[in-house]
Amino acid sequence: MRRPMSLTLRVALLLSAVSVASFLAVGAYLYATLQRQMAHRDDVELIAKVDQIRHILSELPSLASVAQDSKPLTDTLFGHNDFMLKVNAADGKALVQTSITSRPLPHVDSVPAGRPLTIEDIHDWQPAAGIGRMVRAAATVGGGDAVQVTLARERSDRLKLLRAYAVDLLMALCGGALLATLLGYAVVRHSMRRLRSVIAKANDISTSRMNTRLSMHDAPVELREMGEAFNAMLNRLEDGVQRLSGFAADLAHDMRTPLNTLMLETQVALSNTRSVEEYQLLLASNLEEYERLARMIDNTLFLARVDNAQLAVQRESLDLQVELQRIHDYFEMLAEDVDVHLSVDAPPLRADVDPMLLQRAVSNVLSNAIRHTPAGGTVRVSARALDDGIELAVSNTGPGIAPEHLPHIFDRYYRADPARTAGAGLGLSIVRAIMALHGGDITVDSQPGVQTTFFMRFKKI
Ligand SMILES: Nc1ncnc2c1ncn2[C@@H]1O[C@H](COP(=O)(O)OP(=O)(O)OP(=O)(O)O)[C@@H](O)[C@H]1O
Ligand SMILES: [Mg+2]
Repeated sequence: MRRPMSLTLRVALLLSAVSVASFLAVGAYLYATLQRQMAHRDDVELIAKVDQIRHILSELPSLASVAQDSKPLTDTLFGHNDFMLKVNAADGKALVQTSITSRPLPHVDSVPAGRPLTIEDIHDWQPAAGIGRMVRAAATVGGGDAVQVTLARERSDRLKLLRAYAVDLLMALCGGALLATLLGYAVVRHSMRRLRSVIAKANDISTSRMNTRLSMHDAPVELREMGEAFNAMLNRLEDGVQRLSGFAADLAHDMRTPLNTLMLETQVALSNTRSVEEYQLLLASNLEEYERLARMIDNTLFLARVDNAQLAVQRESLDLQVELQRIHDYFEMLAEDVDVHLSVDAPPLRADVDPMLLQRAVSNVLSNAIRHTPAGGTVRVSARALDDGIELAVSNTGPGIAPEHLPHIFDRYYRADPARTAGAGLGLSIVRAIMALHGGDITVDSQPGVQTTFFMRFKKI
């Protein structure tokens, strides 16, 4: 597989492409400007020369003197061997001709004598090499004779100059682009230093060293956003890892208690010969511990399946009255045993929920309620319809939950009074997970000493 190009190189190449494009644009502009200015200046010069020649002619006494002594006229072109001057008499006779061009000059209109020349009077012509400009103008010799002045100029040297200038520009452009690429590469590489330090930090993080965070206060905005996202991810990961290791530690700890009891009781029983009744008692007590262990493992597995999204909610249309009555019948004996009055009050309602999960959630809350209600107290289960689902409420009288525990009771393994409860502290976290699977939630309202109510909301799909 081809290795993708590094970001540094990519940005540097992009920079150089941008600089080549802008150098080209500037170069083209400079070239065009120079070309235009040179052409204009040349035309202005041509006009000035014709003006000068017209003036000299006006000072000469006669046509004959023009032909005899052409020096004052040719002197005007001294040092300019790209110029060519022709002065013809009215009958076409050549009075002055400086050099002969390889190609004939085109016939162009003559500017009348006395009218000053303008740029528009100058015409292109095509000498053998390159381009040229020319003008024809009538002039009057001092004696009153009319003559035709033709002044032409080859501009091939100009073309050469412009070409050399273009080559210079191109060379400068290449040099500039190279410099821009190198500088761009260096600058981008320098800017990427922060990124490399992020990578180094990221490499440094392991599950045992999760407290590393990127310091982003002096970083550029783009990197700061990335760093903040990275730090937030680390926070979540650290939280998850901590929960996971806490989860494992708690699980081990909670399994050890029933296991220790089992071992101890079995050891004591084995240390002597026992009667059949004693063995039966022991086995009955062991069974309770086994059940506790089994419940704990079952709960933990349930939460693990929820965590790994392996649990699918199988909604069915249920008659809530029937479901709640069934739960009531199941818990009635238990409540009676501890002298708690249990009542269920539900209107005829249907709900689309997973029957197993509903039963599990209500049972968890209900068993808590019965366990925390003092003898003579009441536990009440009720249901009502909401706009977007249903709400079940389980309330019980009794000491309730102190405000400092309220935010934590739905956490895994959290027990408000570990000494008094036999559970593992998983019941409510399972209820919360079940409610989340149904798109709903669970809340609690507790007035210590008066009444505690858990509200479970199941959302419609
Ligand atoms: N109705 C209630 N009245 C008073 N305290 C309650 C009530 N329901 C829950 N709690 C408190 O919330 C804690 C968490 O309850 P949760 O059901 O999660 O755990 P548990 O009942 O201790 O153990 P488990 O349900 O796993 O057997 C309980 O330990 C208890 O202190
Ligand atoms: Mg419980």
